[in-house]
Amino acid sequence: MRDSATMDISTRLLAWYDRHARDLPWRIAPHSGARPDPYRIWLSEVMLQQTTVAAVKAYFHRFTTRWPDVQALAAADDADVMAQWAGLGYYARARNLLKCARVVAAQGGFPDTREGLQTLPGIGPYTSAAIAAIAFGRVETVVDGNVERVMARLFDEHTPLPAAKPVLTACAASLTPVHRPGDYAQAVMDLGATVCTPRNPACGICPLMGDCAARVAGTAAMLPAKTRKAPKPVRMGIAFVGRRVDGAWLMERRPDTGLLGGMLGWPGSAWAEVAPPPVPPVAADWQALSAEVRHTFTHFHLRLSLQVAHLAMDTPGLFIPAQDFTPTALPTVMRKAHALVAPYFT
Ligand code: ADE
Repeated sequence: MRDSATMDISTRLLAWYDRHARDLPWRIAPHSGARPDPYRIWLSEVMLQQTTVAAVKAYFHRFTTRWPDVQALAAADDADVMAQWAGLGYYARARNLLKCARVVAAQGGFPDTREGLQTLPGIGPYTSAAIAAIAFGRVETVVDGNVERVMARLFDEHTPLPAAKPVLTACAASLTPVHRPGDYAQAVMDLGATVCTPRNPACGICPLMGDCAARVAGTAAMLPAKTRKAPKPVRMGIAFVGRRVDGAWLMERRPDTGLLGGMLGWPGSAWAEVAPPPVPPVAADWQALSAEVRHTFTHFHLRLSLQVAHLAMDTPGLFIPAQDFTPTALPTVMRKAHALVAPYFT
């Protein structure tokens, strides 16, 4: 592609963004003159890793209402932040969010370069580029799944992902303008989310219709190519949901490292490809339920069988009193278990 053509692409895309930018709670409208708040950009980008805009909006609103700036978040209780994050998944993000907030609050603000940002907990190549470009106007190239798809089509690149990542990143970098790099990054992401969609791309209304090599070749709908993934294995486990006669629930806080790290949940077995033996956390008259929880994690499907019991007042363990128990503060798999056992306890 000629240099003048690449220049036209970012100009066309920015003009499209000026008219069609999505109205997102963390976003400053193009040309509004306001400066984006690095705290809100950082928080939104961490939430948006592996998660859709639709799912993030309500969480972003709750977080920024309760913790309006990085100092407030740095001073929060770990358990409150984990409870507010519950349901968003990838809980290491929430633990790193708090760590990061505390470092940034101690330093008196966010670093304003990609390199500086990347030294912070939980901030990798994607997030550092996004914050540097969007919050600080740095000329950095932001590459997420939307950007990869747009680039694969624009350049008709058939190398399958993930091997194509470096070449698609180079394509995106070649188009990044010196002027408005943050708006450009968001414009590509919005184009990917609203026009250059995975299925049925709306090529007829695309501002880059005349630039798109895949449109000429008729290959847009099959791009980006992806290497077939191995099917996810199934793992099995048992959760024990016990409730004391005063209504308090027997729970445990999971270790900080590993899946659902730092989150509250029901005690139970490890999750393995062969069904583990039932080993109750405390002695009681445990009853197996016939219903089981099904939940899919990034790397496996889980089938979680359930046992329930009424527990005596002198049962040892971590008990959450009935008035403090909020199912929404649990990771989704644990909330599903609660929903299945609730009839047994009412
Ligand atoms: N996805 C992740 N970050 C985004 C942003 N800033 N704008 C649009 N989509 C996004």
